[in-house]
Amino acid sequence: MPESAQMSVIGKPQPRIDGPLKVSGLAMYATDHHFPDLLYAVPVEATIANGRVLKLDTAPAERMPGVQAIFHRANIGKIFRSTLGPGFEGICIERRPPFEDDVVRYYGQYVALAVADTFEAAKAAADAVLITYDKQEPNVETDLKADDDPDVVETSYGPEHRLQSERGDPESAFASAPVKLDQTYVTPSETHNPIELQATIAIWEGANLTLYEESQAVFNMRGVLAQMFGLPKENVRVITKFVGSGFGSKLWPWTHCPLAAAAARQLSKPVKLVLSRKMTFQSAGHRARTQQRVRLGAMRDGKLVSLQHDYVYERSMLDNYHENCGEKTAYHYSVPNLRVKFGRAKRNIGSPSDMRGPGAVPGLYATESAMNELADQLKIDPVRLRILNEPKIDEGLGIPFSSRHYLECFELGVEKFGWSKRNPEIGSMKRDGLTLGWGMAGCAWLAARFPAEANVQLRDDGTTRIACGTQDIGTGTYTILAQLAADKTGVPLDKVEVALGDTILPEGPISGGSMATGSVVPAVFAAADKAIASLLTIATTTPGSPFEKRRPEELAFEGGRVFVKANGSAGGVPFADLLRRANLRLVSRNGKSEATFGEKNPKFSTHSFGCHFVEVTWQPEIARLRVNRVVTVIDAGRIINPLAGRNQIEGAIVMGIGMALLEHTTYDPQNGAPINSNLADYIMAVNADVPKLDVHFLDYPDKEINQLGARGIGEIGLAGFAAAITAATHHATGVRVRELPITIEKLI
Ligand code: MOS
Repeated sequence: MPESAQMSVIGKPQPRIDGPLKVSGLAMYATDHHFPDLLYAVPVEATIANGRVLKLDTAPAERMPGVQAIFHRANIGKIFRSTLGPGFEGICIERRPPFEDDVVRYYGQYVALAVADTFEAAKAAADAVLITYDKQEPNVETDLKADDDPDVVETSYGPEHRLQSERGDPESAFASAPVKLDQTYVTPSETHNPIELQATIAIWEGANLTLYEESQAVFNMRGVLAQMFGLPKENVRVITKFVGSGFGSKLWPWTHCPLAAAAARQLSKPVKLVLSRKMTFQSAGHRARTQQRVRLGAMRDGKLVSLQHDYVYERSMLDNYHENCGEKTAYHYSVPNLRVKFGRAKRNIGSPSDMRGPGAVPGLYATESAMNELADQLKIDPVRLRILNEPKIDEGLGIPFSSRHYLECFELGVEKFGWSKRNPEIGSMKRDGLTLGWGMAGCAWLAARFPAEANVQLRDDGTTRIACGTQDIGTGTYTILAQLAADKTGVPLDKVEVALGDTILPEGPISGGSMATGSVVPAVFAAADKAIASLLTIATTTPGSPFEKRRPEELAFEGGRVFVKANGSAGGVPFADLLRRANLRLVSRNGKSEATFGEKNPKFSTHSFGCHFVEVTWQPEIARLRVNRVVTVIDAGRIINPLAGRNQIEGAIVMGIGMALLEHTTYDPQNGAPINSNLADYIMAVNADVPKLDVHFLDYPDKEINQLGARGIGEIGLAGFAAAITAATHHATGVRVRELPITIEKLI
């Protein structure tokens, strides 16, 4: 590719091309769409977490003004179960279709649905449905003991061995290790709180179903909904033009989606269903509570000899979401004897699901905290402990890393933070009357590609259009795709049109796993290369074209112009001129790329790496702990848009501050309800909690991922962050917090 064009667009900070639409209110989010005869649906939430619906009295609700119908098990119509399909087209965490039976398994489970002419009428009717329950004690016990599960368990993504990784003899190596650490770390349930609530608008035209959704994965949603309604998937269209962020909560369909579709089917009118904030706490996923025992055995010089990571996480009664806390453990450090194993504990809660950095975020909190504690026990610097245990290869898989610059992240972090000035003695560092605490931790996140297809058009007005059925969930995907198209076609950014978020477009990747960008690069490049090749053929076959006598191989395309290679780039002709001469509006080509995610025998272990250095201030007199300074260094391959990239890491750090200090979804043991299910009681980090964030990227393109060497950056910034804060907190206060969040009570 032309180096000059690339320099101008790729790797330069680009403001979002969709920014003006968003700030002017013109961006159409799912619920901004309106249709004639649109009806409003409000689900009725179970007020018990375990039991059975004995009787539903809908008569008073049905008599209310504006009410169209009250749906329940007897009148909703058929909704099939969906199963895991090929690729990303059957993933659904809560697999039981709504109203399938009369058993209530968690608080807030939908037991009926009110549909009315207005939202207010539907809400009033939902509140007026009278329900008699057979109520049993809910199990929302926070102490997690693994259920008696088989060695191989079904998960939402397929079967998994509970023994995830094993090498050497970890038990005896631990027993004979001169230095040992055996601690259990607990992370609470946390709830995703994107500003935009979950919502669906469902419209039927004959046997065709259209859904306006805020999905992170429109093609998977199409696959699931097609199964649920017994339709060929071609009959289902899912449209998601903008998403007010998701953090994983919008990756997979939740039960309100088929409910809206079923109601629209029964009434033959479009139905809009918007969850309340309370409902999103109950029935649209959350980060699973985890309890993780970490055992480390080390030599006195700090070399690890044994690592055991045994974790248990909560799951719901019927569902199989896997909180994969152990994904990083097998490759993160060099250790000859290792075991990673998980167990699950069923609870009367809505199913947990992926939340930003699923698995790695709770997992690295535990393992990185253990590393920090071991460093203190050994009286060596925690950075040095990590250097001592840097692996040469991925010891879990026995293959090399494609690109790992973990130690260089530490080097830069140490320098930018001024880590060498750290006095390890607890409470010894002071500034302006405040006690300082310094802590650090490392992080990692997987990198791979999902399958992707994209379409690129070159048009006779000098513009280009790029289309891909992936989504922009607020992360900057519109802008990234425009940059890729601009890079390949030489068309300036403001003349690039980007179409996303629709299943009528070529099938794009999910916006998840920090993999959308890495996945689309080769597909876009392939499409652009094909469009350019076809343009060159047109240039040589159009009568009167300046290249009529040439063969395509003699021509080159650079910066939007076609020229004869032998003559150098001087005298090129803009592609728009060539199209006009041929009387063509456009050339249009699709490009595809294959998945590397889930490869059976990968040649390389592909991951991103990084580290965090944190300063907290502590005022024991008023028990005030503040995060005062953050340095984060990320090795995520090539950064296509440093502005959006930095923004991703900063956002993740803000969530990390929330995770460490504030966030905690609490279930009421009486009725199983998440009791802080609103933005007043569920406390998240806000601007006042966040200091200036100093984010650095290393720039090592990872060519195993794609031509640009770009890995993903959406999640890694949150991984490891809480462990850096707990370490800093210990350094300031002497208190080890092994159960998040670090509330004041735990410090005094
Ligand atoms: Mo992310 S939890 O894969 O949206």
